[in-house]
Amino acid sequence: MADIRSTYSEQLDFFGPQGPRRLAETFGTPLYVYNESVLRSRCRELKGLSAHPGFGVNYSVKANANPALLRIIKDEGLVVDAMSPGELHLDLACGFGPEQILYISNNNSREEMQGAVDRGVLLSVDSLAQLDTYGAVNPGGSVMVRLNPGIGAGHDSKVVTAGSETKFGISPEAIDDVLALLQRHGLTLAGVNQHIGSLFMESESYVEAVQVLLDIVRGLPPDRFATLRVIDFGGGFGIPYKKYEGEARLDMADLGRKLHERITAWSAATGYGGRFLVEPGRYVVAECGILLGRVQAVKSNGSTRYVGTDIGFNVLARPVLYDSFHDIEIYAGSSAPRETIPQTVVGNICESGDILARDRLLPAIVQGDVLGVLDAGAYGFSMASNYNQRLLPAEVLVGLDGAPRIVRRRQTIQDMLACCETV
Ligand code: LLP
Repeated sequence: MADIRSTYSEQLDFFGPQGPRRLAETFGTPLYVYNESVLRSRCRELKGLSAHPGFGVNYSVKANANPALLRIIKDEGLVVDAMSPGELHLDLACGFGPEQILYISNNNSREEMQGAVDRGVLLSVDSLAQLDTYGAVNPGGSVMVRLNPGIGAGHDSKVVTAGSETKFGISPEAIDDVLALLQRHGLTLAGVNQHIGSLFMESESYVEAVQVLLDIVRGLPPDRFATLRVIDFGGGFGIPYKKYEGEARLDMADLGRKLHERITAWSAATGYGGRFLVEPGRYVVAECGILLGRVQAVKSNGSTRYVGTDIGFNVLARPVLYDSFHDIEIYAGSSAPRETIPQTVVGNICESGDILARDRLLPAIVQGDVLGVLDAGAYGFSMASNYNQRLLPAEVLVGLDGAPRIVRRRQTIQDMLACCETV
């Protein structure tokens, strides 16, 4: 049934035959709903970026670590990264073999490094100090090194991860020090990686950084070049969050063409026969997720109309953390027209900053409406918290047959308190 503002999800048949209101009733809100068909199509699009035999897609699990999604992603032939013992555990539990996992983290303890080594997983270090520590943990072993290509990109300074204003990576000027440490610990250089930042909508910086990394690698001493089997260019592929304004997509065909040309020419020129990886998180999962919430109260303070929901920043942190825009759909159960007016959509957390959308022009939202926050599959649940002792939401997957199933039940008070002294 046509609703107040729902054409985007309806076109995709995102929620299946039950529709968003039934799902909200059945499973409660706030509720993350994922669509399997959207997830699979994003995986395929990424895999199609290059037909080079060494090309692969390394899904960055931090964006969404739900095991049901990880299993679909595995089924689509992607490999995964891990950035913590928890992610490593999940990757292995979901069936990825050690050779399908890269441990790409930073500022790790010896124990954490040892955990990856014990499981046969290749680890990337991102400082000389960590390379030295790794050499002590796994002398004579293999390692990857994260370089900082000097080019950064991203939607917010908090997520730009290359260039001089970031903690990440080793500067190419320090290559001689890297080589000396490899030598000292008898380490094999198995790979190099980089990640310039999160969410670019134009391919230029990424492609430029690809070339910078390839140039650096080409300059390695031949004996070090010879052992390389992974070159990982990082993620950051953006998605259009302004769905209802028709924001343009990142031109993946163009990006793929440029990437393919470069890696093909470079392998032909250098004789490199290893893997080339891209490492997207958001692009894989963002659009397969819509967060459902319920409108509990509407009121006006001064000239502002506040729409009060159960979608606090404990459930979706991105708008508060980065001022991120997420489009909002309105499911009222009827399509009776409503006036479009500016509204500020807020959550149920005890902070004035708990704002999901500020002064957003939307059809008038009323108590009892169900809202859908679009593009919530990436960095949504994975960044949710128990702030204000609110419970983590449930997650539901709408399968290819349109049937929904719970893939993470809602947290209970007992779950939340499981680590405390008895209360
Ligand atoms: N590889 C590394 C080493 C990373 O640090 C990241 C993201 C990725 C890959 C994947 O980046 P993506 O393709 O998802 O942009 N919480 C922020 C994004 C933080 C990204 C952190 N690192 C957000 O909600 O926008």
